[in-house]
Amino acid sequence: MDRFIIDGGKSLRGTLRVSGSKNAALPILIATLLTDEPCLIENVPTRLRDIRLTFRVLEAIGKRVEVSGTNVTVVDDKPLKTRAPYELVKQMRASVLVAGPLLARFGWVRVPIPGGCAIGVRPIDIHLKGFEDLGARRTFEAGDIILDSPLRPGTIRFKFPSVGATENLMLAAAALPGMTILRNAAREPEIGDLGRFLTAMGARVTGAGTSTITVRGARHLHGARHAVIADRIEAGTLMLAAAAAQGSLRLLAVEPKHLKALTGKMRCAGAVVREEKDGIFMSMKGRPRPVSIATAPYPGFPTDLQAPWMAWMCLARGRCRVQETVFENRFLHAAELSRMGGRVSLSGKTAAVEGVPQLCGAPVMASDLRAGAALVVAALAARGRTMVQRVYHIDRGYERLEIRLRVLGAKIRRVHR
Ligand code: UD1
Repeated sequence: MDRFIIDGGKSLRGTLRVSGSKNAALPILIATLLTDEPCLIENVPTRLRDIRLTFRVLEAIGKRVEVSGTNVTVVDDKPLKTRAPYELVKQMRASVLVAGPLLARFGWVRVPIPGGCAIGVRPIDIHLKGFEDLGARRTFEAGDIILDSPLRPGTIRFKFPSVGATENLMLAAAALPGMTILRNAAREPEIGDLGRFLTAMGARVTGAGTSTITVRGARHLHGARHAVIADRIEAGTLMLAAAAAQGSLRLLAVEPKHLKALTGKMRCAGAVVREEKDGIFMSMKGRPRPVSIATAPYPGFPTDLQAPWMAWMCLARGRCRVQETVFENRFLHAAELSRMGGRVSLSGKTAAVEGVPQLCGAPVMASDLRAGAALVVAALAARGRTMVQRVYHIDRGYERLEIRLRVLGAKIRRVHR
């Protein structure tokens, strides 16, 4: 299990190119199950653990994946299976997205029900209700869910704009000749990217990125080429790291409008943020003003940046509140931040943060991906040495984070054990 050793207190400065978005690449890679033809996906963060797991899921189903740098070619290898292996689904919940394309194409699919994880129970009831609205029947067997009967296009109204459920139903609808309408759909930029890929494959998707998405599907979709959008969560995490370490950062190849909820709050906290032609410039001096946030589905403040935001606010000149409205248990980083001198008290979905002038290095443990990123943010600003354990969580969503931060002048190294 790798650890990060971080000697904090160094100002971060420099320019970085943002990677392709993990959360956009995952459903796009899975969309290749909709065609027999080769697909070329560019700007994929191919070193990430979750992306590697997605390759294994595709291979287990019958595709062959060829990787060259950040380009990924997915081609048919064997006849496709309509089952996803538990060994892979239990490691990555997003594997459940194979249900949509396989069910729509073959009229039958068997997928393990993903278990809960550190941040919540994370049921898939909204996905399943959507499939039922399109005519699927469901049965359970040995921890798996079996969906069968041919789907027909229709109208679905989600009870909550779930990102995964919206993607799963878009993937299914793309293979159904006729028009499917998704209402109260998630509006995240990653949904827009999936819509563009499905359109490139021959489906017609309109409204992706708004709360009503229309998919005109086709029986035969063809291969396509697509470049994945930039990772707004990686970009946001790097900006918060540079802000906490009182430095300046220029991010290239990022879409500033995807980060508006964050950059608006960062400006309130005292950071200078400038949108540039091909990216964002951010600089921060001194401690931030305390600024409260409440997470919400896009275009609200992203839940994936809540933990790094809290880490920064631990240094604020006063008190603020951090509310988590998307996941039920996403405050595991609070106790670890307290080990570094942060003053955070929890009450239900709200954390009260009382800023302190200085955090101090300590041994801490990443409990999940974004909580791990928050500890790195705190450690970069802290006095002394921090050891972050369970770096494998961080590796799921940040490509070689330590190398990227070293480019900015951080003292961080990975230790294998
Ligand atoms: C995706 C992102 C994740 C991000 C999240 C919210 C990927 C791979 N992951 O996760 O990084 O934090 O969006 O922006 O893209 N829910 C249900 N029933 C369902 C589905 C979801 O109750 O059928 C609940 C979840 O438990 C959670 C909330 O809805 O509390 C949001 O989940 P959802 O939007 O589906 O997130 P994911 O797609 O899992």
